[in-house]
Amino acid sequence: MIHETVVTTCSIDGTPHIAPMGARLERDSVVLMPFTPSTTYDNIMASGCAVMNFTTDVRVFAGCVTGRRSWPTLPAGTVPGVRLAGALAHTELRLVDASGDPARPVLTLRRVAEATHAPFTGFNRAQAAVIEAAVLVSRLHLLPREKIETEMAWLTIAIEKTAGPAEREAWRWLTEATAAFYSNRESLHDSHNERACMREPT
Ligand SMILES: Cc1cc2nc3c(=O)[nH]c(=O)nc-3n(C[C@H](O)[C@H](O)[C@H](O)COP(=O)(O)O)c2cc1C
Repeated sequence: MIHETVVTTCSIDGTPHIAPMGARLERDSVVLMPFTPSTTYDNIMASGCAVMNFTTDVRVFAGCVTGRRSWPTLPAGTVPGVRLAGALAHTELRLVDASGDPARPVLTLRRVAEATHAPFTGFNRAQAAVIEAAVLVSRLHLLPREKIETEMAWLTIAIEKTAGPAEREAWRWLTEATAAFYSNRESLHDSHNERACMREPT
């Protein structure tokens, strides 16, 4: 089973990096599969460690894929690095194996410490919708526009019925980023066509 987590890593000079990432949880280890190029991958390979954060604050997921990567952190307890200050729980990890394809490495990390900071308060459909939409937004350049728009329209139902203020804010960031992506793409397309017309022989 894949769990949607937020992975915090640090570069060699100590700069923290925050990225949503699917994680396969095994008994003593965790498997991450970052698509390269990836700062998360580079940091794990360089530092040998990472922290996996469990949070229901879906603004972190939506924020990271829309350029809002600055979230409050606290020092991790065992590995050199940070955890999300708002995490319900976190697990500290050390790299034990790197394999797989260069385009999608498979990183196996051993659990070395874990802590719980707040209780899980139950499932919320709007939070699940934000996670789904954040995945779509991270793949706008890969997926057909029709698929994105159909799925976002479907996910809106859960937002309208069950969101609180944090989920609404996250949803706004995602819909704004989607609109900006297509509007930029259309203006690039228009200016490309204009240049092509200007080159047409008369
Ligand atoms: C819920 C969720 C899960 C994601 N899972 C992965 C993943 O497993 N691997 C990956 O490369 N990117 C994943 N992404 C996209 C990354 O968060 C995003 O592309 C990020 O910028 C990773 O690149 P970075 O390490 O350079 O920051 C996920 C995004 C979301 C919203």
